[in-house]
Amino acid sequence: MAPASSFYLLINVLASVTSAAPFAQAACDRTILAQAADAYIAAQTAGSLDPLKSVLATSWIYTENNKNISTSSSVLSKKLTIDHHRTSYDLVTCATYTEVVAASGPYVIGTQIRHNTDRKVSSIDTIASTTGSWLFNATKTLEYVKAEDAGWKPLPVSAQSSRELIQAAGDAYLDMWSDAHAHEKVPWGTPCVRLEGSAYTGKGEPNDSCQPGIPSNHNQAPNTRRRYVIDEEMGSVSIFCVWEHMMNAADSHEFRLENGKLRYVHTMTECGGRTCKL
Ligand SMILES: *[C@@H]1O[C@H](CO)[C@@H](O)[C@H](O)[C@H]1NC(C)=O
Ligand SMILES: *[C@@H]1O[C@H](CO)[C@@H](O)[C@H](O)[C@H]1NC(C)=O
Ligand SMILES: *[C@@H]1O[C@H](CO)[C@@H](O)[C@H](O)[C@H]1NC(C)=O
Repeated sequence: MAPASSFYLLINVLASVTSAAPFAQAACDRTILAQAADAYIAAQTAGSLDPLKSVLATSWIYTENNKNISTSSSVLSKKLTIDHHRTSYDLVTCATYTEVVAASGPYVIGTQIRHNTDRKVSSIDTIASTTGSWLFNATKTLEYVKAEDAGWKPLPVSAQSSRELIQAAGDAYLDMWSDAHAHEKVPWGTPCVRLEGSAYTGKGEPNDSCQPGIPSNHNQAPNTRRRYVIDEEMGSVSIFCVWEHMMNAADSHEFRLENGKLRYVHTMTECGGRTCKL
């Protein structure tokens, strides 16, 4: 008996050591992701990196509008009064997506934050749309986002989809520019509303559809360099990309599915400091 019980004791000791110091592949910690997303909001509000200092990895990358730039010349160095923000969580890749509206900025910003295996922030990737961006009007965007906010609640498990299905829906949508059959793969839901910059397709009707106005020319350059944040509980995927047909713009699309069907699309698009024109 004695050897057996000391064997089990050893196993117990090992188990407690491993749970105190998880392996790198351990599931992401939502609390740590949330702390970093909150620190990012505090930093953007202050126009200073200070609130982020304790969560940043020693070497981390800042990307704004698809370019690696210094934070000193970035939107993060501007104090913004933030009127709305909402964060989704990817607990598989340890990343978050935060949508930010600062009407007086004026800015509508999407930010993907990625964590390394030490649970520190390894990259902040931002699409910062402002005057000149596609269909830009932050005041109007804020009105629509606020009116819609109640619809963006965590889904009951029965209404959630797999991350593969959520990503496939977003990819099919972004493929419509360059693939004549991609629209057949989008799981169109009803009602479905699109907020593109400040343009809103929703009329508050039960039959609101996201299909009017989708690309009819499928010979356009593709939407490339896609980066994903997928939140199964929110039913959402944030995809950042290069919208090549739109002056190689920096583009953010966020999709939300309910019961496997597309219900919401939010986009923001910045054209390298120039006025976006198709
Ligand atoms: C930014 O830097 C990272 C790391 O050096 C690199 O992987 C990435 O391709 C760069 N992105 C751009 C747009 O230059
Ligand atoms: C932006 O939208 C607001 C609210 O709808 C409107 O009052 C304002 O005139 C718009 N601004 C511009 C520049 O179009
Ligand atoms: C939605 O229903 C209304 C009538 O309630 C109709 O006028 C409208 O054309 C319908 N829209 C679509 C997209 O079918």
